[in-house]
This record gives sequence, C-alpha cells and structure tokens, in this order.
Amino acid sequence: MTRPDTPALRPFLPADTPVLAAIFAAAVEQLTGDDYSEAQQEAWAAIADDEEAFGKKLAGELTLIATLQNAPVGFASLKGKDHIDMLYVHPGVAGQGVASALCDALEKLAGGRGAKSLTVEASDNAEPFFKKRGYVAKQRNSVTVNGEWLANTTMQKTLQGGGQA
Ligand SMILES: CC(C)(COP(=O)(O)OP(=O)(O)OC[C@H]1O[C@@H](n2cnc3c(N)ncnc32)[C@H](O)[C@@H]1OP(=O)(O)O)[C@@H](O)C(=O)NCCC(=O)NCCS
Repeated sequence: MTRPDTPALRPFLPADTPVLAAIFAAAVEQLTGDDYSEAQQEAWAAIADDEEAFGKKLAGELTLIATLQNAPVGFASLKGKDHIDMLYVHPGVAGQGVASALCDALEKLAGGRGAKSLTVEASDNAEPFFKKRGYVAKQRNSVTVNGEWLANTTMQKTLQGGGQA
C-alpha cells in the first residue's frame, strides 16, 4: 500500500479565496449526502457563493490551508482562541489525513492562545471524525442556513497541558 503524501500547512492569503470557496462547495456537495438532504446541501454550499463575504470570514479568523504538491486541498479556521469554525477537505483527497493534520495544528494554536478546551459545531458527517479525536458531544442544535434547517452537535475537547507541543 502506498502512503499518501503528508499535507503541508500554511496561513490563508486573500488570493486563496476562490479555491477555498470551490473546496467548500465540493466538500458539502460530495461528502455530506448521507446525513443531509439535497436542499440542505445546496443551502449550505451556497454560503460560499458570495466570495467577498466568504473571504472576509476566512481573513477574520485564524485560517490554515493544507496543500499537497503546493495545491490547496483543505482548510480549517480557529475563531477566537477556542472555537473551530470551519473544516473542509476536497473530496478527491478525503480519508488521507488532511483534516487530521489541520485539526492537530488548530489544537496546538488554540493551546498556544491559552485555551483549556476547544469547541466545534460538528456537522453530522463530521461527528465521527471529531469523536475519534476525543471531542465529546454536548448538545444538539438546529441552525437556519439560507432558509433550510440543518442539525449539528456542539462538541468539546479538553486540551492536554494547554495544547503546547
Ligand atoms: C469531515 C472531514 C473534514 C474529514 O476530512 P478527512 O481529511 O477525510 O479526514 P481524515 O482523513 O483526517 O480522517 C481522520 C479519521 O477520521 C475518520 N473519518 C473522517 N471522516 C469520517 C466520516 N464521515 N465518518 C467516519 N469516520 C470518518 C477517518 O476514517 C480517519 O480514521 P482513521 O484515522 O482511523 O483512518 C471531511 O469529510 C469534510 O470536509 N466533510 C464535509 C464538510 C464538513 O462537514 N465539515 C465539518 C464542519 S464542522
């Protein structure tokens, strides 16, 4: 079995916005169909249609990009010191550890910012991923996105020793 490449990580630049918007839409459209209806997926994916607003959101948070052979394949963002806002991986590289690399880095950065724990509103398809990493479900939520109701789960992980390496 060949080992997939290890992704490299770098900070977000405004010029990355269009490719991240495309990764976001592809991830939602192709990786969430077991848990959400087509109408819900469309409403969710449409968040990235307004690229200017999407870019502003990414720039306003600590956004990291994972690359393989210098091409962006996924991204994640930390809001404040203790909340994972976004985590999206291109379907073409799903299951190869890209989200794990991004999450490892966000947990270290959160620890570096003094966070004792990290929270995330995990989508139903991402819940097993976070559970595997030690996040514990705290509450179920329903949120409206572009006129559709979507369920997610607030999950929390206690960071060991503040998360420092
Ligand atoms: C959830 C998501 C980010 C995972 O990305 P990924 O790069 O495929 O995840 P990884 O390869 O790092 O997975 C790490 C582990 O979690 C498991 N895992 C990942 N997604 C899973 C899923 N949907 N169901 C069950 N297990 C899953 C993997 O099998 C892997 O297990 P292993 O370590 O035993 O091999 C990706 O599926 C995605 O972008 N989903 C759509 C967008 C979304 O819902 N984002 C979350 C918003 S909170």
